[in-house]
Amino acid sequence: MSKISLAVDLAGFHLRNPTMNAAGVLGMSPPLLKRVYDAGAGAVVTKSIGPVPRTGHPNPTLVQLSGGALNAMGLPNPGVDYFVDEIAKLKELGVPTVASFFGGSVQEFAEVAYKLTKAGADALELNASCPNVAEELGMLAADAGSVEKVTAAVKDETRLPVFVKLSPNVTNVKTVAKAAEWGGADAITAVNTLLGMAIDVNFRRPVLTNVTGGLSGPAVKPVALRCVWEVSQAVEIPVIGCGGVTTWEDAVEYLLAGASAVEIGTAVMTRGVEVYGEVVRGLERYMTKNGFSRVEEVVGLAHEAGRHTESRVDKCNIRV
Ligand code: SIN
Repeated sequence: MSKISLAVDLAGFHLRNPTMNAAGVLGMSPPLLKRVYDAGAGAVVTKSIGPVPRTGHPNPTLVQLSGGALNAMGLPNPGVDYFVDEIAKLKELGVPTVASFFGGSVQEFAEVAYKLTKAGADALELNASCPNVAEELGMLAADAGSVEKVTAAVKDETRLPVFVKLSPNVTNVKTVAKAAEWGGADAITAVNTLLGMAIDVNFRRPVLTNVTGGLSGPAVKPVALRCVWEVSQAVEIPVIGCGGVTTWEDAVEYLLAGASAVEIGTAVMTRGVEVYGEVVRGLERYMTKNGFSRVEEVVGLAHEAGRHTESRVDKCNIRV
């Protein structure tokens, strides 16, 4: 029997298995991110880092709902200059690190990418899709032209693989993904949170101070999975699935939809960091049982089934 390898390669970024944490979960503290890695993740992703310190939105910024969580943190972070040392610590701890980052302009995105590259990050995740900062920064991923421009500017400043994280809050995620690819993206992370809100019936007002926030967790999985399905058809570069992965079955669904790796975020709140090891072990069992020896053999397989279904429809001459 051939030996199973869970390792994946994302544009030269090597992961021992196809799981990472989603940006923001467990922040950016090196000891906490090391726990994610020790618990089984293939690599870690930091909270998004910007050009200067930001306090974010006033509390409450997080509410737990039945299907997941709604957050409107507002990109709080200590600024890239502070974070240079944190990346060095993660490297000392031997943790493969993807630095998530953002800027308020094309120039700022490029500057932060340059500093994170110099600091020693292994890959960058360009956060084009935070839904909670519309007034100050604009949600970049809403505009394909801006995504292409900012991706190209970032690629000019770094030799690292750049993953562009897109939003589900757009009419056509394929167009935006294609624009990122044209800009030089090495992979697409699909997707950030789904814009939503919650109202407190006793106080009769929105729960979040920011009124709206980004929904994550199991409730968004079907939406994010659909985005991965569509994006993987539209681009040639790898896709990283993100949204509601809680079990190994969720991870396998994302691989079958076309993702080469997955990010796991909100599940940490309910299952702890052990979720990474559980997902990885479940994936390994699935591969053994089904005769797969490499993760890439699973990637996109559901599209094959879809094509067969389409040809059967054609043969039956059914018009839909
Ligand atoms: C936030 O800080 O508001 C969330 C970050 C994000 O969704 O990108």
